[in-house]
Amino acid sequence: MATILKGKDILDVKDLKLEHLSLIMETAARFEAVMAAGGRLTNMAGKVLATLFFEPSIQTRLTFETAMLKMDGHVVSVMDANSTSSSVKGETLYDTGKMIDGYADLAVIRHARVGSSLELAEGAGVPVINGGDGSGQHPTQALMDLMTIQKERGRLNNLTVTIAGDLKNSRTAHSLAWLLGKYGPRFYFVSPPEIGMPGDITSALRNDFIDVVETTDLVEAAKKSDVLYMTRIQKERFTDENLYNRLKGTYVVNTRLIEQSKPGITIMHPLPRVDEIDREVDDYEGAAYFRQAANGVPIRMAVIALITGNE
Ligand code: CP
Repeated sequence: MATILKGKDILDVKDLKLEHLSLIMETAARFEAVMAAGGRLTNMAGKVLATLFFEPSIQTRLTFETAMLKMDGHVVSVMDANSTSSSVKGETLYDTGKMIDGYADLAVIRHARVGSSLELAEGAGVPVINGGDGSGQHPTQALMDLMTIQKERGRLNNLTVTIAGDLKNSRTAHSLAWLLGKYGPRFYFVSPPEIGMPGDITSALRNDFIDVVETTDLVEAAKKSDVLYMTRIQKERFTDENLYNRLKGTYVVNTRLIEQSKPGITIMHPLPRVDEIDREVDDYEGAAYFRQAANGVPIRMAVIALITGNE
């Protein structure tokens, strides 16, 4: 069972089955318990993780690097790869993957282009993790989101979940919708019509008999939801600045919205936030977004260990 992910790339959540998800979350919980008890993990001793970030990041890069260090592993890192890596000289991601084989035991890539992680993985013999590819997917973010929902709500099944904001461009929203769809939710997708959830995702969910309501009304959705997953309007994906300026600030979670929401609603956000969750919400006990960010470490420890066969 523990070997079902060994040697696999983590590029697209649609490749993950329920048994993979259970194994990742069980392994993350085990690692978390060891760390909470003050124990030391050495299962990645002598191994090297390469992190290649062609787009900005704080959380994803730091949690991957922390995860590797917490297991006694090592990290080699390229930041600002668009200006500092050999891609500037014309090197393809395929060739970068070929070379990484000589240095590292696995790699994480973040890139603006959808499909970039697949190109790296086609070159690399070692496992590759998609750390966010443009407006495509962000699989490990969705895994930590699942872990957060499990911890905060006590279950993954039969929840009403609102995903709100820039659903067209948010890779975290895409990956979460695909993954949570395996657990029979009722979904509210809340967005301005111009930046709604891609049709391939809503169609696939409805084909699987998942109840999907698309609306612009955040208050009505929040009244019925166990979880509200906010996303920011993704300025960097807009080609029309006027459209961005019109849509930014459309939705703001504040104490007034919490008061109007279903009692006990859990508020999540992949971060970074811009202005879509007021700081006053941070004191609300259901504000889970910083706990969600912390769950990135054990989840990424589990993914690293399982795909390299060092769990
Ligand atoms: N959630 C997330 O991907 O954050 P970063 O862009 O800071 O990595």
